[in-house]
Amino acid sequence: MAMQASSWILLVVLLNTPVGNGQSVQMDTEVSGFVGSTVELNCLFINSKPPVKISQVTWQKSFNGTKQNVAIANPALGVSVLPAFKDRVTFKHLAMPQENPSLEDTTIVFSNLRLLDEAAYICEYTTFPAGNRENMVNLTVYARPMTHMTLTTPIIIARAQKHKMTVATCLSANGKPPSVIKWDTKLKGQATFQETHNPNGTVTIRSNYVIVPSRESHRQKLTCIVTYNSEHFSDSVILNVQYEPEVKIDGFDGNWYLNRQDVKLTCDADANPAVTGYHWKLLNGSLPRNVEIRNNTLFFRGPVTNDFSGTYICDATNSIGTRSGLVEVNVTEKPLAQGPPGGVLGILGAVVVFGLIVGVMVTICMMYNHGQKSRTEADNNLTEMPPMHKPVPPPPKKNNDVKGGLISDDIQVVLLDKDEMLKLSLHPPYNDMVLSESLKPSFAHKDCDVQYAVLDTAALVSSPRRSVHSCGDLVEYATIQPSSH
Ligand SMILES: *[C@@H]1O[C@H](CO)[C@@H](O)[C@H](O)[C@H]1NC(C)=O
Ligand SMILES: *[C@@H]1O[C@H](CO)[C@@H](O)[C@H](O)[C@H]1NC(C)=O
Ligand SMILES: *[C@@H]1O[C@H](CO)[C@@H](O)[C@H](O)[C@H]1NC(C)=O
Ligand SMILES: *[C@@H]1O[C@H](CO)[C@@H](O)[C@H](O)[C@H]1NC(C)=O
Ligand SMILES: *[C@@H]1O[C@H](CO)[C@@H](O)[C@H](O)[C@H]1NC(C)=O
Ligand SMILES: *[C@@H]1O[C@H](CO)[C@@H](O)[C@H](O)[C@H]1NC(C)=O
Repeated sequence: MAMQASSWILLVVLLNTPVGNGQSVQMDTEVSGFVGSTVELNCLFINSKPPVKISQVTWQKSFNGTKQNVAIANPALGVSVLPAFKDRVTFKHLAMPQENPSLEDTTIVFSNLRLLDEAAYICEYTTFPAGNRENMVNLTVYARPMTHMTLTTPIIIARAQKHKMTVATCLSANGKPPSVIKWDTKLKGQATFQETHNPNGTVTIRSNYVIVPSRESHRQKLTCIVTYNSEHFSDSVILNVQYEPEVKIDGFDGNWYLNRQDVKLTCDADANPAVTGYHWKLLNGSLPRNVEIRNNTLFFRGPVTNDFSGTYICDATNSIGTRSGLVEVNVTEKPLAQGPPGGVLGILGAVVVFGLIVGVMVTICMMYNHGQKSRTEADNNLTEMPPMHKPVPPPPKKNNDVKGGLISDDIQVVLLDKDEMLKLSLHPPYNDMVLSESLKPSFAHKDCDVQYAVLDTAALVSSPRRSVHSCGDLVEYATIQPSSH
C-alpha cells in the first residue's frame, strides 16, 4: 500500500515537474484527507544548473479565483505561518529560528483538516537570477457521513384500509462525497430518496422504505446498505406488524354421520397480538345445546344428530380487530363409503397394507430357505392373534402382557392346499377398509398372491401338514402373533 502510494506519487511528480532552465518545483498533483486528519503537501526545488540562489518560498491557497498567503520561508528571516493557518500548518523540515536554512524542501504538514481547506495550494520559489518557479497541488477534504437506520415506529399496525406508510428510514448525513443507499429485503415495498446539499459541500441522503403493512410483512427483515466511497455499512431491522386475526375453522372433515362420537370444531386464528377472545355462533339458529366451548374449541358432546348441521362462525378478536371464519357442517346419514376423506389416510392405509404384504412375502422366502424342519417347529408355536387393523372380534389372548409392536419373527406362514382349505373353518379374508373391490384378495386368483385371513389354529393343529405344490394350487396364509420375548 505504502509502496503503491509512493510509486504513484513518483509518477505524478514526473508529470507535474515543469522544467524551465534546469530549475523546477516538484509537487503531488492531488492530495486528499478526511476532516480532522493530517496531510503533507510536498514541495521540492530541483536545481540541475547551479548556482541559483533561493530568495524566498511562498505557500499560497488559491480558491475561487483569489489567492491567500499561507506560509513564507526566507533564508535570512526564517519561516512564518500566517495567523489563519498558525495552529495547523508547519514546515516539515524547517524550524523557526534557524541559521541559513536549506530551502530545497519546503514541504508543509497540514493538520486537523477542515472542509474549507479544500483548495489548490501553490508553492512558489523566488530565485536569483532564474526568477520564479511554482507548482500547485489540489487538496480535497472528505467528510465521513453519519449513517443510521431507524424504524419509524416500533409497532406497525396493518389496517384494513390498505394505506402505504414509511416503516424505516435510512440516513447518511453530511457525507462528502455523497453516499449511495440501497435496501435489501423480501418485503414488497418502495424506497424514496432525498438528497440535501449542505453549504459546506457535504450531502445528506435520506431514504424511506414504504410498504402497505400486512400480515405477510410481520417479522420480515429490512436491511439498509450504505456505500460511502468503497466502504459499506449495513443495518437491519425486523418488522413487528400487528394485524387482525386470520381465521379458519378446523375439525369438519365432511364425514359427520349420525351417531358419530366426539366431534369438535377448532377456531384456528393467526393474529398479532394474540387473540383475546373467540365467539362461536351458528348462522340462522343457536348452537346445539350439548356443545361445550373451551378456549378456541367447540366440543360437541354425545353422538352427532341432525341438529349439528348448519353454518358455524367463529369470531376471533385481538386489539387490532375482529375477523370471522366460517364452516358449513353437513350431517350425513351414513359414514362416507370411501373411507376418510382427503386421501391422506387412505394412502397411509394402502402403504401399511403394502408393507404387510411385502413383509409376509419376505418371511415366506425366509421360511423356504430355512427348510422344512424349522417350519414344523414354528407351526407348533402358532398362536392365534388378530392381524393388525382388522375389524374382526379378537379371540381371547393367551399372553396379556404383550408390549411393543410386531417384528418379522412374529409372522408365521402356513401353507395349505385347496383341499385342506375347505376343511378348515376360516374367517373371511382380511380386507382393509381402504382396499377397493379390485384389490380384495380372491381365492380364484391364479398367481402367487399373498392373502390374509384369521386361521382357527385349533383346526390347524389337527390338520396334517403338506409340502408346497405348484403355484396355482396353493393358498398361502399368514398369521401374525406378537413377540413373546
Ligand atoms: C486542481 O483544481 C483546479 C480547480 O479546482 C482544476 O482546474 C485543476 O485541473 C486541478 N488540478 C488537478 C491536477 O487535478
Ligand atoms: C466565489 O467568487 C464569487 C465571485 O467571485 C462569489 O460570488 C462566490 O460567492 C464565491 N464563492 C465562494 C464559495 O466563496
Ligand atoms: C456540514 O454542514 C452540516 C449542515 O450544515 C453540518 O451538520 C455538518 O456538521 C457540517 N460538516 C462539517 C464537517 O463541518
Ligand atoms: C338465514 O336467515 C335469513 C334471514 O334471517 C334468510 O334470508 C336466509 O335464507 C337463511 N338462510 C338459511 C340457509 O336458512
Ligand atoms: C384454555 O384457557 C385456559 C385459561 O382460560 C388455560 O389455562 C388453558 O391452558 C387453555 N387451554 C388451551 C388448550 O389452550
Ligand atoms: C351437503 O352435502 C351435499 C353432498 O356433498 C351437498 O350437495 C350439499 O350442498 C351440502 N349441503 C351443505 C349445506 O353444505
